[in-house]
Amino acid sequence: MYDGKLNYVSKGEGFPALFLHGFPFDRRIWGEQMSALSDVARVIALDLPGFGKSPAFPRTLNPTMDQYAEAVADTATELNLGKIALVGHSMSGYIALAFARRYPEMLAGLVLVTTKPAADSKKAREGRQNLAAQVHEMGALATVIAMRAKLFASATIGRDPGLAERVKEIMLEQSSDGIIAALTAMANRPSSTRSLGKIDVPTLVIRGTEDAIMPTRSVNSLVKGIPGAKSEVMRGSGHLPMMETPDQFNSALRRFLCEIQPDNPPACLDQA
Ligand code: MLT
Repeated sequence: MYDGKLNYVSKGEGFPALFLHGFPFDRRIWGEQMSALSDVARVIALDLPGFGKSPAFPRTLNPTMDQYAEAVADTATELNLGKIALVGHSMSGYIALAFARRYPEMLAGLVLVTTKPAADSKKAREGRQNLAAQVHEMGALATVIAMRAKLFASATIGRDPGLAERVKEIMLEQSSDGIIAALTAMANRPSSTRSLGKIDVPTLVIRGTEDAIMPTRSVNSLVKGIPGAKSEVMRGSGHLPMMETPDQFNSALRRFLCEIQPDNPPACLDQA
């Protein structure tokens, strides 16, 4: 169980959309969404346990995805958010699927960004163990070395040369405890494939055409498995479409957030 308090930022009012970052980042990856979507929802971006400004799980715990989901649910309850749209990027897609299994009554909608339902292969688990050992030795720099070549579409680097540097800074600021706990939780997570059919809230699956981390087939298995799920494809984006192609990403999310809320705010009606 998580006994810390999750750090968050919040902008706007009304229907709550809760944003969860992937690995090994923090709430700052959602900066473009905080500014662009706060007229159609209350946009809240959390730092997961051990990332950003949120304290880590106790070292001895070896947290599971369910425990990350529980920490998120506790925060949503404390903030009195009612039913939420939960937006999970990559590792947080795994958390969002655990959340959907455990707390279906808290969900109004689900957005799964560059993520997949399958568990790790044996090779992927070994890769995580190796990376955890390197993080133990050299800290967050090991994640930069392991991941930097795979994060972005090549077009992104040409379009926004500073983005890779900004993301690297975010990665370097993460704690070794947070990173190692997340690697362990991801390696041990069960497959969510069989529970997809039980998800009964509107769901949007977003992927990047150039994502070198999440294979298209794996992401598309979410669309196939979740009844009525819609899919949006971010042209020319890699693993971080919320930062690489923010205009495309925000338009897709805006449409979805307007579609699923019971009382549309004026900004939704303007674009209808
Ligand atoms: C992420 O972006 O959260 C990770 O790449 C997910 C993973 O390693 O499975």
